[in-house]
Amino acid sequence: MPKSKVIKLTVKDIRDIKKRARLTVLTAYDFLTACILDTESIDIILVGDSLGMVALGYESTVPVLMRDMLHHTKAVTRGVKRALVVADMPFGSYDTPQRAVRNARRFLQEARADAVKVEGGTRIRSEVEALVKAGIPVMGHLGLTPQTAGELGGYKVQGSTRKKAEEIHKDAVLLDKLGVFAIVLECVPAKLAARVTASVKCPTIGIGAGNRTDGQVLVLPDMLGLQTRFRPKFVRRYASLDSNIRRAVRNYASDVAAGKFPSKEESY
Ligand code: KIV
Repeated sequence: MPKSKVIKLTVKDIRDIKKRARLTVLTAYDFLTACILDTESIDIILVGDSLGMVALGYESTVPVLMRDMLHHTKAVTRGVKRALVVADMPFGSYDTPQRAVRNARRFLQEARADAVKVEGGTRIRSEVEALVKAGIPVMGHLGLTPQTAGELGGYKVQGSTRKKAEEIHKDAVLLDKLGVFAIVLECVPAKLAARVTASVKCPTIGIGAGNRTDGQVLVLPDMLGLQTRFRPKFVRRYASLDSNIRRAVRNYASDVAAGKFPSKEESY
């Protein structure tokens, strides 16, 4: 039987999804996981700079470098045939329009990503303008922006006051006008996320933003129960990998210690 051809999603497909279907987005940082997400029809695979916290052992996303992001984005794109792959631009890699374009091009040309993600609104207006003008597909990120979490008072809900909500709304409308193809809304009240979603042409993707956005994203090790050190209220655990792996490791160690592994069948 001929194998059916996998058709790669484009930025246009993602834009056109608004109001027709809900976008599914998950993070990935390595080849094997990317293969699984891709064959399970996840629409967007985000190589998030959450990499720093869930794979590299940092306390925040700030120490993540371009070379870390390029290395992991390359691993992910090698495993993906259908999903759109978005690479997160790390802290300090897009602080001038020139630097933003130079680094974003590296993600597209060296790591074969389809798009990049940047955090902020008005503050990074000229960088977003330069990226869009250079033909680089950009995903925005508003609300709780982890690269500047210190300035925002830590990892907490953003946009709870009227003034802050207006700022986030204004930033979203600006990013949409500048031509981003999607906006992540992180840790904002559900009502604000719904209002932003109704005000912009591009799809919104929520994380801790209620269910009236155009899609949802979660950090994979959080939803798989692999990362158990902290658990924000918005994380639903779909598996318990931490305990599964621990059980497997304990069983392996006790089998080896007791001389039960390998068996005759597992030997040459
Ligand atoms: O780095 C990341 O994983 C992200 C998601 C939380 C959206 O930016």
